[in-house]
Amino acid sequence: MTFPPARPEVERLQAYSAPLEGRRGLLRLDFNENTIGPSPKVVQAIRAIPADHYGIYPEYDGLREALIANLGLPLQIDQIGLFNGVDAALHAIFQAYGDRGETLLTTSPTFGYYNPCAQVQGMAIEAVPYQLPDFSFPLDAVRHALAGGSPRILLICNPNNPTGTRLAPEPILELAAAAPQTLVVIDELYEAFTGDSVLPLADFAATPNLVVLRSLAKTAGLAGLRMGFAIGAAPVIDRLGRVTGPYDINSVAVTAAHAALADQAYTDAYVAQVKQARSWLVEQLQQAGVRHHCAGGNYLLLWPRQPAAAVEAQLREAGILVRSMAGKPLIDGSLRVSIGTGAQMEQFWQAYRAITAITA
Ligand SMILES: Cc1ncc(COP(=O)(O)O)c(C=O)c1O
Repeated sequence: MTFPPARPEVERLQAYSAPLEGRRGLLRLDFNENTIGPSPKVVQAIRAIPADHYGIYPEYDGLREALIANLGLPLQIDQIGLFNGVDAALHAIFQAYGDRGETLLTTSPTFGYYNPCAQVQGMAIEAVPYQLPDFSFPLDAVRHALAGGSPRILLICNPNNPTGTRLAPEPILELAAAAPQTLVVIDELYEAFTGDSVLPLADFAATPNLVVLRSLAKTAGLAGLRMGFAIGAAPVIDRLGRVTGPYDINSVAVTAAHAALADQAYTDAYVAQVKQARSWLVEQLQQAGVRHHCAGGNYLLLWPRQPAAAVEAQLREAGILVRSMAGKPLIDGSLRVSIGTGAQMEQFWQAYRAITAITA
């Protein structure tokens, strides 16, 4: 079939593929989502949306203020960008800042969506590996690459998905100060599980090249509604807004976001539950002698003694989804398991033990 070719970068692109079908009714431990859904107040607020509301374009009044109040930080509303999920914020960042021939400096392995966002802009990618044996942050190597290569964008996932690697705020601020021409993007999607946010220390007047990404997907339980934020210096947020559609976030998501931000206690309780379940699972893995790595996020890596693909398939048959890390540098052969509630982790552990013949 002949068809008009897309831009060369798009023709070359290997699309980010996330298995999105066939997940219904299963215990989904494959996308690091909130496994129980949002606060009942969110559901109530959505149910209360009047019918005429559906007929008008979404209205964003007060949402930036609500985020600022939730964060409890002295930010101005023009420092907050609203996006249809952090994925859309990433798109906007690359579209606004990443040009052909420029470089994205990032780490490896990390969230799989950064690379296609860079490639579609025709950017080169320099990915610095995490340091074995504990996947610690390669700070010296990143410093070096930043000084030597003048990358257009430095993108750090903190804590990192999938290694959970944590980076303290001070070195982040130091990296941003050292490279004023580089947009330093900190993806804090899983920050609630570590408390390592750079935001409380960030001075966007001193380091206007720093941008922080937050989402209501993984902790507040709004992954299906899509709600992401970029926080930074007003001129940078303005440039991201220029490449974003005027109504990209729908009004149901806006209503849900207001309710979720107003019920931080619910999110905090969920995060506490996940952290407890994570400790419990780590204990089981330790006792059973299963190789694993658990650090910052609501997920951990484990290395089954049997081939990972077979264990993944058998878990699926048992109604549990996990994510194979096949082909990812440093962690090939591992499975990433998202952490949910204590009962969900017990269900997982029971199935895992049966499949991998752990008897103890
Ligand atoms: C590190 C990281 N950043 C961004 C995203 C996407 O977030 P959102 O659902 O807000 O688009 C994900 C989702 O898995 C992620 O793991």
